[in-house]
Amino acid sequence: MNVSDERTVSLWAATEVVPDAVPLGQSEQVDVVVVGSGIAGLSVAYELAVAGQKVAVLDRGRIGSGMTARTTAHLSSVCDDYFSELTKLRGEDLARIFYQSQSAAIDHIQSIRETERIACDFRRLDGFLFPASGSQESNITRELDAALKIGVEVEKTRGVPFAGFSDVQALRYANQATFHPLKYLRGLAAAIRARGGVLYADTIVEKVEETDGGVRVTTVSGFTVSARSAVVATNSPINDRVALHTKQAPYRTYAMSFEIARDTIPDALYWDTEDPYHYVRLQPGDGRTDFLIVGGEDHKTGQSDDAGDRFAALTAWTKRLVPDVGVEINRWSGQVMETVDYAGFIGRNPGDSRVFVATGDSGQGITHGVVAGLLISDLILKEESPWRELYEPSRKTAGAIGDYLSENATAIKSFAEYIAPGEIDSVDKLRPGEGAIVREGLSKIAAFRDDDGTLYKRSAACTHVGCHVHWNSLERCWDCPCHGSHFAIDGTALNGPAVAPLARVGE
Ligand SMILES: Cc1cc2nc3c(=O)[nH]c(=O)nc-3n(C[C@H](O)[C@H](O)[C@H](O)COP(=O)(O)OP(=O)(O)OC[C@H]3O[C@@H](n4cnc5c(N)ncnc54)[C@H](O)[C@@H]3O)c2cc1C
Ligand code: FES
Repeated sequence: MNVSDERTVSLWAATEVVPDAVPLGQSEQVDVVVVGSGIAGLSVAYELAVAGQKVAVLDRGRIGSGMTARTTAHLSSVCDDYFSELTKLRGEDLARIFYQSQSAAIDHIQSIRETERIACDFRRLDGFLFPASGSQESNITRELDAALKIGVEVEKTRGVPFAGFSDVQALRYANQATFHPLKYLRGLAAAIRARGGVLYADTIVEKVEETDGGVRVTTVSGFTVSARSAVVATNSPINDRVALHTKQAPYRTYAMSFEIARDTIPDALYWDTEDPYHYVRLQPGDGRTDFLIVGGEDHKTGQSDDAGDRFAALTAWTKRLVPDVGVEINRWSGQVMETVDYAGFIGRNPGDSRVFVATGDSGQGITHGVVAGLLISDLILKEESPWRELYEPSRKTAGAIGDYLSENATAIKSFAEYIAPGEIDSVDKLRPGEGAIVREGLSKIAAFRDDDGTLYKRSAACTHVGCHVHWNSLERCWDCPCHGSHFAIDGTALNGPAVAPLARVGE
């Protein structure tokens, strides 16, 4: 199980990446073992397989069914936290490397698509940043200046094709792109297999450790994969208790797709200056109808349970900007990991020499995943990468101390919740389909009553480092606000960093 067992379903979810992948059924020895089969894991596995390495990829769910199946797949080289902010924190040289590495990731997707003949609706297009309101036009000018200084292909333009926005100042970024994420992963997985790589689904990894001269990955089913190197690409790292998790925070984001008549708006990426920002793109449909995909309304994971209101706000925003939009097709949510200094953590896991990690994607996890493929394969094969410093997982994030403190205040608040009363005073008050936190004596219980009346009672203590979980009624799962774990109603971990299930309490 993984996040594909949560309730909402994205526009892409019907595409199966490797439907015949089976669980690991014996212990194995390979050159590199990769944990996680999203865009990051499969990108790393692909680069290494092309270089002649024997790779094994293990995933706790179906192949490619994690957050990559919930993305909206803008392929953008533009820092979504603004180059002006990135430059302030990391300096112009690293901001330039950010742009160059993310641009290289898009180029690389294009070249893999051609080499491996992957039909994934990839296309180059422009990206437009536009002000959410007139007062935010100054942000546009500041961002233009910062972007031009580091060599970004950008120009000021007037108007975007949305109602009421025909005369705003906007920025046009050239050479952005988009694709169908799961069709791309399907092609990547086939290319890995064609070079001798193996992919195992429904295989939960519980331990990743360095051994004399290598690594050993152990699964819950008791098998091991031994290798020279391991790559943990589980979106939120399962092998790390605090080092990385204190430098990033999980956010829930919401997406919807609507039918739209072809050519209603030009095919491009659009995002606004609101915080959190709205993001918009198109996906070709059959015949004369396409899909308009919109997203936004993010909040820190576990800190709101009002998805209905967020989808209503997203729908209203969409209809205001695109009055001719058609019927809604899908609505779904997912999680992104925001780092305090705006670049992901990709490279050697802090304290390890042969275990590598890729996390901290922010809203740009697809291009970050492809960067991970290039960067980590370089570190494994050549010991160096021109992008190492920017993405170094063990870097100090001193310039971002304010964000660091506010993200970590979440953990302190979360532990304080153990002494607060429950949300309801008895599980008897739970109606079918409802979940809530209940106090029973000294313990806090995560309780859920299924539609058929079955009651599930689990400890409210997250099995990562013990924060207090919160009910998510949209996805019918328990979300941990600290570092992004999700748990099913029966306590099974669906998303890292937790691996172990929530403890069972007398039912
Ligand atoms: C709604 C939404 C919109 C987004 N829009 C964009 C966008 O427009 N552009 C963009 O670039 N990014 C976007 N993102 C972010 C991007 O989609 C993600 O950051 C990216 O897909 C993450 O890829 P990943 O490989 O790190 O993780 P995943 O795809 O989640 O893969 C991790 C895998 O690890 C597996 N795993 C976890 N724990 C274990 C374990 N213990 N054992 C074995 N396997 C395990 C999981 O099952 C999963 O399959 C968006 C995200 C969301 C949710
Ligand atoms: S995810 Fe770290 S304590 Fe829950």
